[in-house]
Amino acid sequence: MTMVCLKDFEEYARQHLSKATWDYYAAGADECCTRDDNLQAYKRIRLRPRILRDVSMSDTRTTVLGTEISFPVGIAPTAFHCLAWHEGELATARATESLNTCYITSTYSTCSVEEICAAAPNGFRWFQLYVYRDRNLSEQLVRRVEVLGYKALVLTVDVPYTGKRRDDIRNRFKLPPHLKVKNFEGVFEETTGLDEYGVPANTLDPSISWKDVHWLQSVTRLPIIIKGILTKEDAELAVEHGVQGIIVSNHGGRQLDGGPATIDCLSEIVDAVQGRVEVYLDGGVRTGGDVLKALALGAKCVFIGRPAVWGLAYKGEQGLREVLQILKDEFCLSMALSGCRNVAEINRNLIHFSKL
Ligand code: FNR
Ligand code: LAC
Repeated sequence: MTMVCLKDFEEYARQHLSKATWDYYAAGADECCTRDDNLQAYKRIRLRPRILRDVSMSDTRTTVLGTEISFPVGIAPTAFHCLAWHEGELATARATESLNTCYITSTYSTCSVEEICAAAPNGFRWFQLYVYRDRNLSEQLVRRVEVLGYKALVLTVDVPYTGKRRDDIRNRFKLPPHLKVKNFEGVFEETTGLDEYGVPANTLDPSISWKDVHWLQSVTRLPIIIKGILTKEDAELAVEHGVQGIIVSNHGGRQLDGGPATIDCLSEIVDAVQGRVEVYLDGGVRTGGDVLKALALGAKCVFIGRPAVWGLAYKGEQGLREVLQILKDEFCLSMALSGCRNVAEINRNLIHFSKL
């Protein structure tokens, strides 16, 4: 089978994963309006290409928080990679190391952070963190990833409670017994039970607030990136609280249904932030053209969630490499066809605003 675009990997995953696993990865909250709009919103945006600009050489490299990556697409944190491929996050770590991009490791990984770093010792990684009721647990995770050379913490702030995903409820989805949330081994031994996903129950703290950002800053010197901002008001607060980056995200439409598509709220956030911190985006990125549009609207880099899992489901490390390479090639072509030789030349003039 010749894999041409990310949709081909999606179709492969749909056909080869178990129904419960496919449904879990695909899930959005409630009626999935926000999940679907993340993709549709890109199709409403049109470009203003420039011509005759000698695009014989193109350079897709950029930096995130000062570290160079080969193109502006990284891996968003997603849970349970061993459900998609037996080597799980080890394959993810190797693929991202070989493509030289950023891998945001989920707290809910089915390999431990130590195993992930051993599999790809030179990989560039950030760690996604939740704030637990027991702050010591969050702090212990921070200590482990600091030692391992993770370069930043990505604090996910849109899960005070888990969104209502109908198919997961119908399927009674949970992690099969042979898989474990490895980062919790020996850490959550005292807990009374597991929740519907097979992770320790009642551990996330719904009372989390901006004061916990200060708390996190007090226990680490790693840069902190807030994931899950959708408004200029919260972007302004994030900057005022001294974070180093923002990921415009609606959790792939898995939390609040009825919220905006991420690409539709990028501009207001970029305008509010005015270059004081880097702004990234995830949700619905499926083509190189989508990446170009997000960068034109001010994102420094974008991250892919589900497409990474489809790549793993196809062929593990090799499958994810193919997903990333296809996106990189498509991005490079879109850049050239719109007259951009490097990412510095991508700006808002590329966007056809009267079409929005
Ligand atoms: C996620 N996401 C997520 N986010 C996070 O901060 N920690 C996590 O453990 C997870 N787990 C997770 C599992 C699955 C199956 C999905 C689909 C998503 C959200 C993820 O980081 C990202 O915001 C979205 O996936 C981006 O949207 P796309 O690229 O999937 O459309
Ligand atoms: C999810 C959790 C793990 O979206 O963040 O499934």
